[in-house]
Amino acid sequence: KYYAILMAGGVGSRFWPSSKASNPKQFIDILGVGETLFQTTFKRLSGLIPAENIYVLTNKKYVDMVKEQIPHVKDEQIVPEPEMRNTAPSILLGALKIRKKNPDSLIVVAPSDHWIKEEAEFMDSIQEAFNYAEEEDRLITLGIEPDHPNTGYGYIKYDESSDESIRKVERFTEKPQVKQAERFLEEGNYVWNAGIFIWSSKFIVESFKEHLPEMYRLFEKGDEVWNTKEEEDFLEENYSKAANVSIDYGIMEKSDSVFVIPVSYSWNDLGTWSSVQKELPQDDNGNTSINSRLVADDSENNIISTPDKKIVVLKGISDYIIVEDKDVLMIVPKSEEQEIKQIREKVMKDF
Ligand code: GDD
Ligand code: MG
Repeated sequence: KYYAILMAGGVGSRFWPSSKASNPKQFIDILGVGETLFQTTFKRLSGLIPAENIYVLTNKKYVDMVKEQIPHVKDEQIVPEPEMRNTAPSILLGALKIRKKNPDSLIVVAPSDHWIKEEAEFMDSIQEAFNYAEEEDRLITLGIEPDHPNTGYGYIKYDESSDESIRKVERFTEKPQVKQAERFLEEGNYVWNAGIFIWSSKFIVESFKEHLPEMYRLFEKGDEVWNTKEEEDFLEENYSKAANVSIDYGIMEKSDSVFVIPVSYSWNDLGTWSSVQKELPQDDNGNTSINSRLVADDSENNIISTPDKKIVVLKGISDYIIVEDKDVLMIVPKSEEQEIKQIREKVMKDF
């Protein structure tokens, strides 16, 4: 009865130019460990969930890449989306397919590009959440202790009065403004949404019916086609009609059946180059070169990704992100790393 939806359809735009629409972040070995983030995540999940119950939801243009990276997995477990529509439609599709296979199924939805250090603790928390989700209709997420007012996350205010490991969520705020994020941190009883969700297939589908009724109706028409040959045609015709909305805005902010399990293991969503650097070795001056030997003098706190260079030489260069791929070399101060998304858009538009 345990299933997983592995979300692998994003473009990772803050990792441009290493990550690009043709080869996004989750499918590259961004940490230089010999496997891609996607492969690591698949392995991690298969420690808990039978590998044949893990569904990979991804854009159709990444299907071949997914097959290459997990060659032992059956084609039917790789679900191609005809268009990028963000996470809500993709999760609904996965949940409907899984519910059809097993109406009593419990699902963990996981992003494919995160880093988790304590794998055993991670699995324990998912198993605990499965038990809670089975017991009662709940949308469960894992909560991370925040340490700075990051505006790229969802903020979860939970009920302080209980001391259970699972807490009722009072408010879910996706990607607040920086002022608001600062206020949340001061207030105290907030955690970050880890983006890992646990629920029963029945209850998540019901929650779509309630909070995203149009999307629900669009997909409801497909009830006979799930897991059959006709599914692809149905999706070609209908998927792009779904609203472009994330599960966070679409369901989590609206539902009053949201619960959180605050966890204390090391979690990193590898959302920016600096956060990647945190998990990698640095030299005495805080420099990290992922692929090349670094010869650095009078240079501090740089992160360098240059897969095709043997040696990188720096003199008098500090606090920079230096990234090259086949076609592009990008040098950006670390303080501007949130801008990389916009820089990418501008370059794509102009060239
Ligand atoms: N299949 C599919 N289709 N996957 C997608 C799509 C899509 O259209 N869009 C995004 N994804 C995948 C991404 O590859 C990633 O693994 C996951 O879904 C989450 O998408 P992100 O775009 O990375 O979301 P985010 O980082 O802005 O925000 C989410 O994660 C934060 C934690 O990292 C939210 O859930 C936040 O609340 C949360 O704090
Ligand atoms: Mg993310």
